[in-house]
Amino acid sequence: MMTERIYNWIDERLQIKDQIKEILDHPVPPHVNFLYCFGGITFVLIMLQVITGIFLTMYYVPSPDHAYASVEYISKEVAFGRLIRGMHRIGSSGVVIMVVVHLLRVYFHGAYKKPRELNWMVGVGLLLIVLTFGFTGYLLPWDQKAYWATVVGTKMAGSVPVIGEFVLKALRGGNDLGAVTLTRFYSLHIWFLPGVLFALLGAHFFMIRKQGISGPL
Ligand code: HEM
Repeated sequence: MMTERIYNWIDERLQIKDQIKEILDHPVPPHVNFLYCFGGITFVLIMLQVITGIFLTMYYVPSPDHAYASVEYISKEVAFGRLIRGMHRIGSSGVVIMVVVHLLRVYFHGAYKKPRELNWMVGVGLLLIVLTFGFTGYLLPWDQKAYWATVVGTKMAGSVPVIGEFVLKALRGGNDLGAVTLTRFYSLHIWFLPGVLFALLGAHFFMIRKQGISGPL
């Protein structure tokens, strides 16, 4: 077959077959059932968010003058725009739900115990990142609901003792919500958060492979 010939051609030059086989042919222990799929499902949903999100950036404009209109344009004019935006919006809730379901599976199996404490901690980081994705993404359509939800959300962060005022100003980029807040949230949403997310996921998956999946109950 053509693909096999290409694969062999690459392998002849790089000798990667053994490493790839080791990664893909990892045996699944017999006690592993569908409950162990929740982490993987979360990952698949995240990849869908990445793909649909990239398509959205082709039309979305992160400025107070154009954000709402650009989102409306995506929904009404762009080919498959409504579908892509709908997938991204609904998918974001899907990720949050699946992350919590996965966390509960790990918790009730006691899979956070030694030697997996560090991976649980990385997981907590992942949970916070996923929630921050939701918080920053919610503002982007710049409609009334988005605007006022972010006014309230940033105010809540501002009520934290001692550092509250600093956090509020850092989030808003000033005292009030405005153009700076929108660009800031957008930058966090498409650059900073994905960067941290994939770094943590790399650590998460490395540790799962290194330690093996936790044993039967
Ligand atoms: C972006 C979110 C996350 C993704 C994509 C993800 C993915 C995965 C995958 C694929 C596994 C393999 C076994 C399984 O699926 O159950 C796993 C295991 C694990 N995850 Fe996550 N995870 C995420 C978030 C979390 C969170 C929020 C926690 C806990 C706070 C956590 C803690 C763990 C632990 C301790 C294991 C090892 C479980 C074992 O050995 O049985 N993960 N994760």
